[in-house]
Formats: sequence, C-alpha cells, structure tokens
Amino acid sequence: MAQRVCPWWLGYLLASPLRRLLEDPNKVLAPYVRECMTVLEPGPGMGFFTLELARLVGPSGRVVAVDIQPRMLSALKRRADRAGLLERLDIRLAAPNTLGIADLTGAADFTLAFALVHELPAVEPFFAEVAKASKPGAGLLFAEPTGHVKPPDFEAEVQAAIHAGFELVGRPAIRRSHAAFLRRA
Ligand SMILES: C[S@@+](CC[C@H](N)C(=O)[O-])C[C@H]1O[C@@H](n2cnc3c(N)ncnc32)[C@H](O)[C@@H]1O
Repeated sequence: MAQRVCPWWLGYLLASPLRRLLEDPNKVLAPYVRECMTVLEPGPGMGFFTLELARLVGPSGRVVAVDIQPRMLSALKRRADRAGLLERLDIRLAAPNTLGIADLTGAADFTLAFALVHELPAVEPFFAEVAKASKPGAGLLFAEPTGHVKPPDFEAEVQAAIHAGFELVGRPAIRRSHAAFLRRA
C-alpha cells in the first residue's frame, strides 16, 4: 500500500493553541503517563502531544519521538526548545518501512500513536515494532480520526495490535476519535 502522510503544513494546525481549546492533551495522557517513564511516540507531527508527554515524564524520563517528515521534526525541536523540554526528547527520523527503534527493545513503558496508523504503508509491521520496543505490561494508546477512519477499519487496526501481542484494556472516550488502550502481554 502507498504511504499517504499528512501534508507538513497541517502540522502547524494540529499543533496550534486552537486545538487545545477543543482537546486538552493533559486530560488524554495523564491517566497513562508517570514520571521517569520511557515513552515512544511514533508520528508526533509538530508535537501537540509530545510536549505534554515530556512534561509528564519529568526530567528523569524521556520521550522518543519518531516521524517520517523532517519538517515536522524540526518544528517539534524548535517548540520543545522554546518550552525548555528538549533535553527530555529523543527525536528521530523514521524510514518508510521502519521506525528505527531496534535499540529500544523492551524499554518503552507507554506508546502513543495518535492519528498515525491510517497513514502507514502497513499496519502489522508497525505494531510488531511497537510490541518489541515495549516492556511487558507497557501501555499503548492509539487513536484514529473518525473523519478519516471507518469503524471496521479501526477494528482491523485493533486486531492487528492484539495479533502483535497486546491485550485490549479499554476504549477511552476521545473527541472525534476512535480510541483503544492496550497493554503488552
Ligand atoms: C495526522 S499527523 C498526527 C500528528 C500528531 N500525532 C497529532 O495528533 O497532532 C500524522 C503524523 O504521522 C507522521 N507519519 C506518517 N507516516 C509515518 C511513518 N511511517 N513513520 C513515522 N511517522 C509517520 C506524519 O509525518 C505526521 O506527522
């Protein structure tokens, strides 16, 4: 399947303060993220959730943010620097078919994949990479926009995550999103 990534300029809109008025990233993330955690965020864009993740993990935690678009990553880096959070981030450029996270094997406590999975060329290898990077019991929150992803397609994504070794724990309510929270078995 061909890759359909969101255009880089949409990154500005997705990270804009206007979005905060509609969706509080702290409310979405606080139930899952604690100080000192290692968090993986594939597809962070310009960092709407990344900066909040960096605040929640604190100075001893880290957030590995992996995006395929260099422009998203340079804007993320600027924004994190301005917020004084850059030291908590490990910013990486993904390749088309891999996140390039082999060094994280068994290290991640939590993964956030927000509005990303429908853009991937293949879902199964993605969840396999995330599963490999996750500690036993690690959380995975993934959400997809209801405007782009039909319910049966979201269910197929949930099944792919289960097939990769996650167990479905719940379905958090997130505005205009299908969402699932899973744990690494
Ligand atoms: C719709 S944006 C969502 C950004 C962010 N998660 C948010 O909710 O604001 C999807 C992001 O996933 C990135 N992306 C798409 N395919 C990717 C891949 N194969 N590996 C890593 N990132 C990817 C895009 O470049 C884009 O930044």
